[in-house]
Amino acid sequence: MRFSLLGVVLLSAAQSVTAALNASLLEKYVDSLELTSSFNPVKEAYWTGYPHHRRTPFAVSPDGKSAYIAYLDSSETDVHVQKVNPETFKAVGSTVTVTGGKEAGGLVAHNDGFALLTNEALPSGTTNAPADNTPVPVLYLYTNGAQTWKTFLGGPGVHASDGLHASPDLNGDLVYSSDSGIYGAYFVVTAYTGWASGHFGDSIQYVDKTGELLTLADASSSWGCSHNTGIAFESASEPPFASICAEDQGAIWLNTKTRGMTTDGVKVANENTTNGASGEPMGGMSGSYSALARFKDSTRYIFAWPSRGAVDVSENEWMGTGYTHVLPRTENRNVAVALFSDKYTKLGEEATSEVGAQDGDSQVNWVTEGVKDHTNVHAAAFGPVNALVSWEEISDPVCDEFVAMGCRGTFSGTYFQQITYKGMKLGQPIKSEDVYVAGDMVNMGTRRICWPYVDMEWDLAEAVNSWGGETTTTTKMSFACLKLHISELDD
Ligand SMILES: *[C@@H]1O[C@H](CO)[C@@H](O)[C@H](O)[C@H]1NC(C)=O
Ligand SMILES: *[C@@H]1O[C@H](CO)[C@@H](O)[C@H](O)[C@H]1NC(C)=O
Repeated sequence: MRFSLLGVVLLSAAQSVTAALNASLLEKYVDSLELTSSFNPVKEAYWTGYPHHRRTPFAVSPDGKSAYIAYLDSSETDVHVQKVNPETFKAVGSTVTVTGGKEAGGLVAHNDGFALLTNEALPSGTTNAPADNTPVPVLYLYTNGAQTWKTFLGGPGVHASDGLHASPDLNGDLVYSSDSGIYGAYFVVTAYTGWASGHFGDSIQYVDKTGELLTLADASSSWGCSHNTGIAFESASEPPFASICAEDQGAIWLNTKTRGMTTDGVKVANENTTNGASGEPMGGMSGSYSALARFKDSTRYIFAWPSRGAVDVSENEWMGTGYTHVLPRTENRNVAVALFSDKYTKLGEEATSEVGAQDGDSQVNWVTEGVKDHTNVHAAAFGPVNALVSWEEISDPVCDEFVAMGCRGTFSGTYFQQITYKGMKLGQPIKSEDVYVAGDMVNMGTRRICWPYVDMEWDLAEAVNSWGGETTTTTKMSFACLKLHISELDD
């Protein structure tokens, strides 16, 4: 009660300040971090081959004294984790290399170390290993620079009665709940034994502080959303953690309760799906981070994604009653947000499932409108009231090559918009031409959100392979931060 009153006071204070965010509040630490190994900052998107930023997971410890960044070696094997000073973003101590890792899939920082989600091939000769050295998901804990434990989240012996899983691409996230001392990981899988053999889906696994893989009846999930095309995952005080999936049938679900794609979940959005994709709502390849953020000291969350909108709701006959198909409202994608009062509950209406409805997107809270394309959408919370939503803009998009994937065209800036926990936009978005979001947007503890990126030309005009197979690599990492200056109040 006291809390919601405070929220009201803060909102009116914030409303009275116009343009709470402004460009002078964007701090850049260009090339602050020297990497000990080289990194390729460009990841080719699934299907389209369009360039995406290759994710560099970033996390800060609860005491605010240590930050860590993880990156995949440019050879595409071995994940490096570097501790950085959270003020200067320069290296502290030596790099830890997790040998064999194939993707920097998620990172949690502790006061004395870090946990890393990655995927790796099993040693040759391992019984019941997937064929062709396909990597399996694995969680590592390091304490004071040394490995404490390592726990496989797939492969032989993990939920064997449901079939065995590998993860050629994780495209997921790792979070930690300090209240319950439990790690949660949500990632894409392919089954190589059992009923789902050969199919793609997703899995949610929990591990305790000692490294034990838990089987939690109402939280663990061996198989959830079919052909998952995007994951959003954020911690809660206890499992199940807050989870969202974009599937291949036509919806984005808040599936904290169901872990799957059944109609018992909360339908956040209708999205047209074509060829199994639904518009890369959580960023597609190398996305699936900082899409869902929890407001500080609260049960509230914000989810941000790009959407084509939805019209002409029809029945999905293959899935049956309650499941729908839609057509896209626009060829380009605009930025949308959904707000949740807790991990199970959306503010406002769910997306409609009414067959015959003209508007399939009347529940959407749009942050942008118009004919430009919006991509690489992320969210983070400044405190209990204010959040930051970021996106990249393509000013003259070509979207008709792929109905439900990304667009290409002229990159016309990264934008940052302040939004409240009720979904109200405060002020105008600020724009940067040379800062990108390429790793987790982290609340540094003082109404300041920071994230890593590589200082480079960003070109969204063509597919990666049309660059002539040239590989861009770097040994420098940059960071940017945005501070909320009105909110001595939003703590
Ligand atoms: C941006 O915010 C700073 C800090 O409050 C203020 O001094 C400056 O005048 C603002 N600039 C603009 C263009 O509003
Ligand atoms: C998605 O939209 C395309 C283009 O409008 C349409 O041809 C296709 O049937 C839609 N997909 C579904 C599953 O309704």
